[in-house]
Amino acid sequence: MRLTDCHNFHDFRRLAQRRLPSPIFNYIDGGADDEVTLRRNTTAFESCDLVPSVLRGVEEVDMSVTVMGQKLALPVYLSPTALQRLFHHQGERATAAAADKFGTMFGVSSLGTVSMAELAKKHSNPQCYQFYFHKDRGLNRAMMQSAKEAGIKVMMLTVDSITGGNRERDLRTGFSIPFRLTLGGMTQFAIKPMWGINYVTHEKFSLPQLDAHIDMKGDSLTIGRYFTEMLDPSMTWDDVAQMVADWGGEFCLKGVISVEDARRAAEIGCTGIVLSNHGGRQLDGSRSGFDQLDEIVQAVGDRLDVMIDGGVQRGTHVLKALSLGAKAVGLGRFYLYALAAAGQPGIERALGQLKAEILRDMRLMGAKSVADLGRANLRFR
Ligand code: LAC
Repeated sequence: MRLTDCHNFHDFRRLAQRRLPSPIFNYIDGGADDEVTLRRNTTAFESCDLVPSVLRGVEEVDMSVTVMGQKLALPVYLSPTALQRLFHHQGERATAAAADKFGTMFGVSSLGTVSMAELAKKHSNPQCYQFYFHKDRGLNRAMMQSAKEAGIKVMMLTVDSITGGNRERDLRTGFSIPFRLTLGGMTQFAIKPMWGINYVTHEKFSLPQLDAHIDMKGDSLTIGRYFTEMLDPSMTWDDVAQMVADWGGEFCLKGVISVEDARRAAEIGCTGIVLSNHGGRQLDGSRSGFDQLDEIVQAVGDRLDVMIDGGVQRGTHVLKALSLGAKAVGLGRFYLYALAAAGQPGIERALGQLKAEILRDMRLMGAKSVADLGRANLRFR
């Protein structure tokens, strides 16, 4: 199977599975507990149908959106995700460059393996910085400061991960950071030699957003333990109100699911929220962002930008979210499988296909621009 055999999300996922050692593939692929929310994130899009309008003169279609003050050529952005150089040696460099080519936003994670400053220097497309609120307040201050110095415009605070989700696949495979070739994992790595060769012949694994503050040399943590031991579960709305004031720019909460929390986010001055359950990796049984979208847009859509992520695999998923009033839609596994499959050309192929789908679907819906999509284009079953 090669990159040219990949025509949709499932193909990229399969190719990623062939290329990656199984602990790494399962880290990306898995969710919490019984993975009910992971599955629901995608099936939620099937709870409603698109109602197209015909004969609308759709030769020219404008797919651009403006979200949190950023103009994006596409209504999708690449959500911040951790540890990308483990998935492919190009890591975040490939993600940033592909997003740049398609004129959209990418996110850099606190747990990113390339520094946000390097990417900000190299690319002028919008970039957001994903922030984890650590127990170490000095680290929090330093991360805010480095994001400001790098010229990052959008701060994205993740609020659904104050303790580790129960990811049983990681417990079984022993996946942990800093990444080590454990004895148990060795056989897996031996049968994926290309991955192993690339891993050891490229720049050493590091977490540049955190390295100066956290010494993990002697220890090795699962992601679940990292959240539980390093992040601060005492974080409250007052702490976030303070961060919003300190940041003084576009500030977004990622991981809001309730209408009440969406209202509070608007009250403390957030300019955006992402309805997200962290790709089903944290609270299993949580509702999906898409299932909450309609109600939340109606409650706060005039006060801040509402985005969603989770389970997006198709152009029609994006159109359904836009029809309910999402300002943009975040992609996670969608581009990570493509990254793992083939690096930057992989992500570019996946984004090219999604762009073609969105264009085709907008034409079929009779929408010349995203503004033409609305609640009237959708019926729930
Ligand atoms: C995860 C984190 C790191 O879900 O975002 O694994």
